[in-house]
Amino acid sequence: MAHEEQQELIAAVEGDVARLMDEHRERRKDWYFHEFVPWEQGRSYIDEPWDESQASVRPEVRTALVLNLLTEDNLPYYHLAIADRMPKGSAYDRWNHLWTAEEAQHAIALRSYLLTSRNCDPHELEDDRMATMEVGYDSPYDDPVALFVYTSAQELATRISHRNAGTLTDDEVAYKVMARIAADENHHYLFYKGVTQAMLDLAPSVVLEPLHRVLSTFEMPGIGIPEFGKRAMEMAKIGIYNLRIHHDKIVEPLLRDWGIADLTDLTPEGRILQEKILELPKQILRGARIFERRYGVATA
Ligand SMILES: [Fe+2]
Ligand SMILES: [Fe+2]
Repeated sequence: MAHEEQQELIAAVEGDVARLMDEHRERRKDWYFHEFVPWEQGRSYIDEPWDESQASVRPEVRTALVLNLLTEDNLPYYHLAIADRMPKGSAYDRWNHLWTAEEAQHAIALRSYLLTSRNCDPHELEDDRMATMEVGYDSPYDDPVALFVYTSAQELATRISHRNAGTLTDDEVAYKVMARIAADENHHYLFYKGVTQAMLDLAPSVVLEPLHRVLSTFEMPGIGIPEFGKRAMEMAKIGIYNLRIHHDKIVEPLLRDWGIADLTDLTPEGRILQEKILELPKQILRGARIFERRYGVATA
């Protein structure tokens, strides 16, 4: 892999990173998780141990909230993935610190909601957090451009997943917590998408290889979470995050916004990659149809 070319590109768009970070700061409003948590519902788990009958949210949606929380819990490893690949003291490094600080509130807010509302088994949640963080997370992509493409898609997918999970709780408090977290993810998505755009503007042929590699192998970063496959399947069946959503709400909008179909000035290899990338939505949709037939999942 031509990592040297990628390093040059990373250096060339550092000014855009600083600009996008300024735009992010202007866009984002500070928020405070303590204003969203239903503290009045909180009671001692010693005097009144958890029992499933106390939960108000249906089990599959609770599974989604817990899976989303455990994914947020792995934040130290996401920070490390960027810190490892980006120059120290650069605008990338400054962004990584700001982004990490914002991300940290997500697990705090969601855990506080779940524990006060008794919508998860607190003992199991802590065991799962320990198991998740002991495994950690290692990005499958070594190159910096791939990391930006991946994080663009991952932030957007997380925004959709948090938002849908909140909606399906039928609980106004949970809805507000998840909508607020999803708004942060949306701002993060805009940042990562913008950096990737700046790279595409400057050197499309350098970006298309990692872009194809990432979008053709994309997986949410939950692999070390206990029973990840089973939990992700539950979420897919109730329409929180699945292949059709991945196609409609993540891959198609990204390819459209990045203007992949309209790219000109490509090297011969770049043109081949462009075609391969434009084939990806169809392939994802085929997978979605197979899944829906097999599991009888209704589509919107
Ligand atoms: Fe987050
Ligand atoms: Fe985020």
